[in-house]
Amino acid sequence: MEPQVHETNGSGLSPWLERLGALRIRVFREFPYLYDGSEEYERDYLRIYQNAPDSLVVLVTDGPEKLVGATTCLPMSQEGPEFQEPFRRAGIDVGSVFYFGESILLPEWRGRGLGKMFFDKREAHARRLGYPVTAFCAVDRPADHPQRPAGYRPLDGFWQSRGYVKRQDLRASYSWKEIGEEHESSKTLTFWTKSWTE
Ligand SMILES: CC(C)(COP(=O)(O)OP(=O)(O)OC[C@H]1O[C@@H](n2cnc3c(N)ncnc32)[C@H](O)[C@@H]1OP(=O)(O)O)[C@@H](O)C(=O)NCCC(=O)NCCS
Repeated sequence: MEPQVHETNGSGLSPWLERLGALRIRVFREFPYLYDGSEEYERDYLRIYQNAPDSLVVLVTDGPEKLVGATTCLPMSQEGPEFQEPFRRAGIDVGSVFYFGESILLPEWRGRGLGKMFFDKREAHARRLGYPVTAFCAVDRPADHPQRPAGYRPLDGFWQSRGYVKRQDLRASYSWKEIGEEHESSKTLTFWTKSWTE
């Protein structure tokens, strides 16, 4: 199986929206996200990438059509206020930050370097556009969370190896419906940042 890699954004995303939403729902069902997703939530979430002119979405397919992985990014200034707020509070210019949305791969496609390629492509895109800071966030879960699978390996080591620093001073709140919940609830996410000017 040789993966095919496609880069798109804006209206180019339209034919992939349904598949991308379904892939997000499937992958983020796993710990630590435990996301009980819906098509409606996905449509809302992904609209921002359709409308942001400087966004980049990298898609990985098995054959020309079957979506098996994706990563997204866009200027932080085009993200929602809940993601911008921690930067403003910390006195960081939101206009200097390029935000990385997610990296997702079906389990059978992991461990062959595609996660690194996702970082390479997003960082190259952000740098081409002149952004000095790249950032993403991850949900906070306690080490003894009841849903944490035995042998779960956090991605922190991977992110550190890419030059990212965990920023306890940059925390966002964001809501989604978790498996077993009736309604959406707010979660805390901590940002990781990398500065290209130091
Ligand atoms: C994040 C993700 C896309 C990485 O994909 P991947 O293709 O496995 O990544 P790579 O093959 O490029 O591996 C990256 C490096 O991190 C390491 N790594 C991969 N998965 C890891 C894990 N779960 N825990 C710790 N390290 C991991 C690999 O060993 C590799 O390092 P190495 O080459 O020095 O051994 C994939 O794990 C995934 O889809 N996870 C679920 C969704 C998620 O949590 N995404 C991140 C937040 S949006």
